[in-house]
Amino acid sequence: MGCDHALITKAALTTGKARKAYVSDISEECLKKARITLAGRDASYFVFDGINPDIKADAIIICGMGGKLISKMISAYNGDAKLLLSPQKNPESVRLALESNGYKITKDFCFESSRKFYDCILAERGHMKLGVMERKFGAFYRTRSEALKKKLEKMLANVKKGPDKEKSAELEEALSWQK
Ligand SMILES: C[S@@+](CC[C@H](N)C(=O)[O-])C[C@H]1O[C@@H](n2cnc3c(N)ncnc32)[C@H](O)[C@@H]1O
Repeated sequence: MGCDHALITKAALTTGKARKAYVSDISEECLKKARITLAGRDASYFVFDGINPDIKADAIIICGMGGKLISKMISAYNGDAKLLLSPQKNPESVRLALESNGYKITKDFCFESSRKFYDCILAERGHMKLGVMERKFGAFYRTRSEALKKKLEKMLANVKKGPDKEKSAELEEALSWQK
């Protein structure tokens, strides 16, 4: 949902990761773009604000929005679909919303594209309890990852330039697992 041009949906259908797609967005204009991208494919289209509870999908993809907006959507959702989430910022609020709404994270990794870093979180119904560091830096932040290391180093360099120096300790702790 929040499909915009539906390029992610196209990739899911093209690679066989999805057989059918329910494509939704708050904007009718975006759905027009999605219809062009997905012409000839098995897809249904809906203008909707948030997750449409009438659609019973196996998995829901929500990418490219702020973490606070994604958290609001997850908190209002009571279905059983697996979730694939990629918040543009505030990923910690997404992890907290998952924890509070009966989801457990099964994968949580960072990747780099065009010199920007993105979080990708997969979750399914279940129970989890995250610590502060896991919420902030990823459920598996202790697992080695070149992209996460680079992202943490960049964050640390920025924090060291600014006034909020006590954040350095957390970043240094997170980075210590990546050495
Ligand atoms: C930056 S685009 C991301 C598109 C695509 N998901 C991706 O990652 O490539 C964000 C999309 O979210 C949609 N959106 C924003 N708020 C929404 C809401 N409350 N409910 C549904 N869609 C929303 C916007 O209209 C826009 O198409």
